[in-house]
Amino acid sequence: MALASTRITARRGVPSPRRITLGTILCGTFLVLAPGLIAFAIVLTRNAADTMSDSMTGQWTAWTPSLGTTPVVDATATTATTPTHAPRTHQPVTIAYAISLIKCGDFQSSTEGMMDAAIVLQHSVHQTSVRAGKSAYDYKMYAIVHRDALHCSQPLADVGYERVVRDTPVNVSDIRDSALRKGVHRAWCCGADEFVKLYAYTIPEALVVHVDVDFVMVQPMDDLFDAMLYGDSAAVQRIPRERPNDPWPTNPQAAMTRDWGQVMPGRKPGYQAGFLVVKPNQTVFEEIVNVILNDDYNPGYGRDCGWGSKGYGVFVGAMAMQGLLAYYYDIYQPNTWVELNQCRFNHMGMDVLYRSQPNFQARHAKRGMCRNDLDYCEDCQTTAMENIYNIHYTQCRKPWNCIGEGLSTNPDKSSIPEDSVILSHCMELQSVWHGHRRDLERALAARVGTEDNKRQKETASIVAGQAGDYKKEVFQGHCRGNGQTNYLALAGGQQQLLLRIPELYQ
Ligand SMILES: *[C@@H]1O[C@H](CO)[C@@H](O)[C@H](O)[C@H]1NC(C)=O
Ligand SMILES: *[C@@H]1O[C@H](CO)[C@@H](O)[C@H](O)[C@H]1NC(C)=O
Repeated sequence: MALASTRITARRGVPSPRRITLGTILCGTFLVLAPGLIAFAIVLTRNAADTMSDSMTGQWTAWTPSLGTTPVVDATATTATTPTHAPRTHQPVTIAYAISLIKCGDFQSSTEGMMDAAIVLQHSVHQTSVRAGKSAYDYKMYAIVHRDALHCSQPLADVGYERVVRDTPVNVSDIRDSALRKGVHRAWCCGADEFVKLYAYTIPEALVVHVDVDFVMVQPMDDLFDAMLYGDSAAVQRIPRERPNDPWPTNPQAAMTRDWGQVMPGRKPGYQAGFLVVKPNQTVFEEIVNVILNDDYNPGYGRDCGWGSKGYGVFVGAMAMQGLLAYYYDIYQPNTWVELNQCRFNHMGMDVLYRSQPNFQARHAKRGMCRNDLDYCEDCQTTAMENIYNIHYTQCRKPWNCIGEGLSTNPDKSSIPEDSVILSHCMELQSVWHGHRRDLERALAARVGTEDNKRQKETASIVAGQAGDYKKEVFQGHCRGNGQTNYLALAGGQQQLLLRIPELYQ
């Protein structure tokens, strides 16, 4: 009997304290050190730390591991299948939905919450798929598991994820650039280990949707899949893009959103690493690994810092995926990928105008303007639910942390930051996750209820997980009060019940 704990990665977490020294500010051709810059850099660092408080790091207690009972994808299986026909007239094409499990560890967050997150994500994928009659596409759940996390990954396999076990794809001591080699271990979220996410490019399905575990699907993405796989021009017209006037790529390889919510005026945006749709491609995987190993990384806070001295630096996660992929796609693969509308896809409910933090000073000339560098942008703080394809729980907090208070009513660092999100909208987003969980609970109770002898005990533990009376219209019985210690886990986290979840999707 081994008790393991697990950490799944997401966009935010506990950053290591960053010291600002003369040496780190100097970069490339940027040589003038204005006092204002130093102040700005300090503001930036402080805000990065502030937005980290909705920490995604956590642990869950695994039940008795039964390693080896579930197939682990072979490390050499990397060929993508290329469909040759439209999905509606043939066997549905399978989309891979992948998460990454990077570390097992002892972190101070909700243990059951992390497991429930993976379960609810899977349920939301199912609910927007052909198996629920909502899409022409089928799905398969994958978990890219870092080899060091293999021993705590069994619970994911037990609820329906196929594990792809890998090592970090680069040996840090082989990184040519010394700043990157020495600094990458400090990068959000998990240093060079975050690069295991790149194995999404080697999953053998037609398309891979890689997401953080603090994520749910709301509407099917058939238009995007039809457009990317079959060049369906009517579908292209219907896809909400951030820059609708840009030409559609002739052979689109990827779709993503940029992290405009965190951009600094006049600087390059990162890519929002919680959501990535790609056509698997071994060559792309190798090219990106090659960038990590051989490209320059200019450290510091200047305009030309970061990857290739092209400005892909400074922001949270710049040395890891958020900066790397923005740099790779902008510089090496222009016009081969699609920037999706940041309010509709990977929706976070965050302010995307220059009105408040982070990384913006109220006196700046761009005050009130769109962070995306266009004259027009939607207000993601109020996007209507029927326009949202998927939700990423960041500023609006993790649904399993039962946060129902804003900073204005509860001045605690875990409270909802009402300077960048709207409390009522966050509550609406939270209720979507809890609604998916309620739906799963209904299905599970109906399933286990068919065995009369076990019926009472097992359905009772599901019902017990719905007995919380805190903001029931939002948390739907799953929370006893404000804060993560008040979370009631799905079926009380009971192994014998959770093991039956895959039966719901057959
Ligand atoms: C990484 O590379 C160094 C130098 O080439 C080597 O000594 C070390 O064994 C490698 N480590 C791993 C884990 O491959
Ligand atoms: C895979 O990526 C390479 C490099 O970007 C590209 O040239 C090639 O066309 C891609 N393959 C497919 C099947 O799209």
